Amino acid sequence: MRLLLLCLVGLLGLTDLTRAASNLICYYDSASYLRQGLAKLAPNDLELALQFCTHLVYGYAGLKPGTNELFSLNVDLDMFHYKDITGLHARFPQLKILLSVGGDHDVDETHPNKYVELLEANRTSQQNFIDSSMFLLKRNGFDGLDLAFQLPRNKPRKVHGSIGGYWKQFKKLFTGDFVVDPQAEQHRAQFTDLVGNLHQAFSNANLMLTLTVLPNVNSTWYFDVPKLHPQLDYINLAAFDFLTPLRNPEEADYTAPLHLPDEQNRLPHLNVEFQVNYWLHNHCPAHKLNLGIASYGRAWQLTKNSGLSGLPVVPETYGPAPGGLQIASAEGLLSWPEICSKLVQNSTALYRGAAAPLRKVTDLSQKYGNYALRPADENGDHGLWLSYDDPDFAGIKAAYAKSRGLGGMAVFDLGCDDFRGLCTGQKYPIVRSIKYFMG
Ligand SMILES: *[C@@H]1O[C@H](CO)[C@@H](O)[C@H](O)[C@H]1NC(C)=O
Ligand SMILES: *[C@@H]1O[C@H](CO)[C@@H](O)[C@H](O)[C@H]1NC(C)=O
Ligand SMILES: *[C@@H]1O[C@H](CO)[C@@H](O)[C@H](O)[C@H]1NC(C)=O
Repeated sequence: MRLLLLCLVGLLGLTDLTRAASNLICYYDSASYLRQGLAKLAPNDLELALQFCTHLVYGYAGLKPGTNELFSLNVDLDMFHYKDITGLHARFPQLKILLSVGGDHDVDETHPNKYVELLEANRTSQQNFIDSSMFLLKRNGFDGLDLAFQLPRNKPRKVHGSIGGYWKQFKKLFTGDFVVDPQAEQHRAQFTDLVGNLHQAFSNANLMLTLTVLPNVNSTWYFDVPKLHPQLDYINLAAFDFLTPLRNPEEADYTAPLHLPDEQNRLPHLNVEFQVNYWLHNHCPAHKLNLGIASYGRAWQLTKNSGLSGLPVVPETYGPAPGGLQIASAEGLLSWPEICSKLVQNSTALYRGAAAPLRKVTDLSQKYGNYALRPADENGDHGLWLSYDDPDFAGIKAAYAKSRGLGGMAVFDLGCDDFRGLCTGQKYPIVRSIKYFMG
C-alpha cells in the first residue's frame, strides 16, 4: 500500500512537471519598431509571434528622477504605440500585455542612481510611483507592470591572472573585490517594502506585477526571495550576458552557460543553473520562475595572441567587435539573423578577412553553449569570437526549464529573433524552438 502511494506521489510529481513550463514571456523592445529597413519589426510581423507567446512585455518605460513617476521614454512613439500594442488583445484575448520599466533603456547620465533613490524615497514619494504607474497602465490598457530596475551590477573579474597590454586603463575599474553597494542590505529591505505596496495597490486594481532580474544584478543583494515571491505574479531571470565584451574586454567566454564550466577559475554564480537554484533554494515556487534567454549574441575582437582554437576562456581579446547593423548603437551585439548570416557555409569563401564566414563550434555536451570564431589575420585584423544561443540551444534551455519544473521561458527579445525568416525561411525560429521543447 505504502509502495503504491509512493508510486502515485511519484506519478503526480511527474504530471506536475509536465504541466509546468507553459509560460512564454516575449519581450518587445519598442525601439525595434523604429528601426530602418529589414530591422524594422512592424505590427504584422509581431503578430506572427503572438500565437506562441503567453505574455508580451512592452519595453521600456522610465522613472522620472525626483518625482519618482513612471513616464514614457519616447512620447512621440508611445502615445499611439502603447494602444496599438494593447489593442492586440482584440485578436489575442488570452495574451497578457505588460509594460516594463527600466531594462537598461532608461539611461539618465545625470541620475545614474535613480532606481536606488526610488528605494530610499519616503512613502509619499513612492506613492507617486505607484499612482503614476497605475494611471499609465490603466489609461493605455496594459495588464500590469514589469519591474526591470537598473540596480547596481556585479563587478566583472578576470579569469586569467596576467593582465594583457591593451586594457591597462580599465584595470582599476574591472578588478579587485571592492563593495559595489555598501547599503545593499537596506536597499533589499526597501525593495521588498516597495513591491509589497505596489502589490497591494495593483491587486485591488486587478493589475499584474512581475519582476525581471536584469543581467548581473545580484539577487543576493537586492531580492529577499521568501518575502518577495508572494507579492509577484512571476519572476523572469535574465540569465545571460554574465560576460560581455564591454564588461570583460580582455577575455571572451560563454555569455550564458547553462552550467558552470568548472575547469578554469570562473566565478561560480555566472551561469543559469546557479541563478535558478538560488531562487528555488530560497523557496520561490518553481512555477513562478521563467528562465530568460537572449536572442542576440555577443562578439569579441580577437587579436593575434588570442590563439586559433577559440576554446574559451579566450585570452587577449580586444573588447567588442563591431556590432551588427540591426541594433546600430550596440557594440559587439549581433541579432540571431545576423549571426546566422555569418555562419553560412561556403567552401569557396576565404578563411581570413572581414567577409570570411565564422567557424561554428557546437557544444555536444549541451552544458555551456555554442560559439563561433574567425581568427585574426596576419595583421591582427578581423578576428572575431561570438557566443550565442541559437534555436537549438534555446531548445536545450527550454528542456532544462521544463525538467526543473519552472513556469516557462522568457525571450529577450522578439526584435532580435529572425522574424523575417532570413536564416532558414522559418520565422521566429528561437521562439518556435522554445515553444516546441517546453512541450
Ligand atoms: C518626502 O520626499 C519628498 C521628495 O524628496 C519631499 O519633498 C517630502 O517633503 C518628503 N515628505 C516627508 C513627509 O518627509
Ligand atoms: C552575488 O555576489 C556574491 C559575491 O560576488 C556571490 O557570492 C553570490 O553568489 C552572488 N549571488 C547571486 C545570486 O548571483
Ligand atoms: C562564397 O564566397 C565567395 C568568396 O568570398 C563569393 O564570391 C561567393 O559569392 C560566395 N558564395 C555564396 C553562395 O555565398
